[in-house]
Amino acid sequence: MNNEINTENIEIENNNKNNNTDNINVKPFVISNVGMSLDGKLATIENDSRISGEDDLKRVHKIRKSVDGIMVGIGTVLKDDPRLTVHKINAKKEDNPIRIVVDSNLRIPLNARVLNDDATTIIATTENMGENKNINEKIRELAKKNIIIIKTGIDKVDLVKLMELLYKKGIKNILLEGGGTLNWGMFENNLVDEVRVYIAPKIFGGKGAPTFVDGDGFKTVDECIKLALKNCYKLDDGIVIEYTVKK
Ligand SMILES: NC(=O)c1ccc[n+]([C@@H]2O[C@H](COP(=O)([O-])OP(=O)(O)OC[C@H]3O[C@@H](n4cnc5c(N)ncnc54)[C@H](OP(=O)(O)O)[C@@H]3O)[C@@H](O)[C@H]2O)c1
Repeated sequence: MNNEINTENIEIENNNKNNNTDNINVKPFVISNVGMSLDGKLATIENDSRISGEDDLKRVHKIRKSVDGIMVGIGTVLKDDPRLTVHKINAKKEDNPIRIVVDSNLRIPLNARVLNDDATTIIATTENMGENKNINEKIRELAKKNIIIIKTGIDKVDLVKLMELLYKKGIKNILLEGGGTLNWGMFENNLVDEVRVYIAPKIFGGKGAPTFVDGDGFKTVDECIKLALKNCYKLDDGIVIEYTVKK
C-alpha cells in the first residue's frame, strides 16, 4: 500500500485515512443517462456508439449544463476519449460541469481530452494506484494540468465514499454517463436516483457488446433496482424514457 508518494506540492486527497463521519449518507443526486439500442447495448461489438441523433445529443448537453458534476468510468475514457463538456448547445466555459473519472489504477492517458482545460477534472483513484512504477511521474504531470486526484478505496474506487466526498465539495448533483461497468457499481450501491434513457430503434446484438448495466448483476428480482415511470416522449427516431429509482 503506498500512502507516501513524494508529491511535493501536489495535493492528493487520501480519504481512506479520513474517519470523519460528518455528513455520512449525504450524497449528490445522481441521474444515470444513456443512449442505447432497443436491445440495451451502449455500443456495438466494435465499439461503434453512434446511437443518438442531434436532438438527443442536445437533450444530454442540456442535462450536462444543469448539473454540478459529470461522471464516467475509465473504460469510457479509454474507448471513446470524450470531452465531457457542454458543446452541442449554446454554452460558456463556466457552464461545464466538473468532470469526474473513476480510475482505480490511474490508467488515464495524459493526452485524454477529459484532461483539457475546458473544465475542472477530478480523478477518483485508490490506495493501490501507486503500484505502477511510473506513477509518481504521472501524478506530477496531472498536477501540472491542475487535475484533482482523490484516493478512496484500496483496489477499487469506493463509490459510496466518493459520493459523500463529492457532496462535501459542493457537488450536489451528478450526471452519470456510464459505461456499463461503472453503471453497475453505482446501481449495486444504490447510488442512482433517476434514470433517463434514449432508446434508438436499432438492434446491435452481440454478447460482448456493452449494455446499460453490466457487472455481476443481481441474483434475484427481489434484489434488483426498481423504477417508477416519470415521463416518456418521442425524440429523433427513438424514444426517451425517464424513471425515478424507488428507494
Ligand atoms: N451509449 C452511451 O450512452 C454510452 C455512455 C458511456 C459509455 N458508453 C460505452 O460504454 C463502453 C465502456 O463501458 P465499460 O463498462 O467498458 O467502462 P466504464 O463503465 O466506463 O468504466 C469501467 C471501469 O471503471 C473502473 N472502476 C473503478 N471503480 C469502479 C467501481 N467501484 N465500480 C465499477 N467500475 C469501477 C474500473 O476500471 P479500473 O479497475 O481500472 O478502475 C472499470 O473497469 C464503451 O463502449 C462506451 O462507448 C456508451
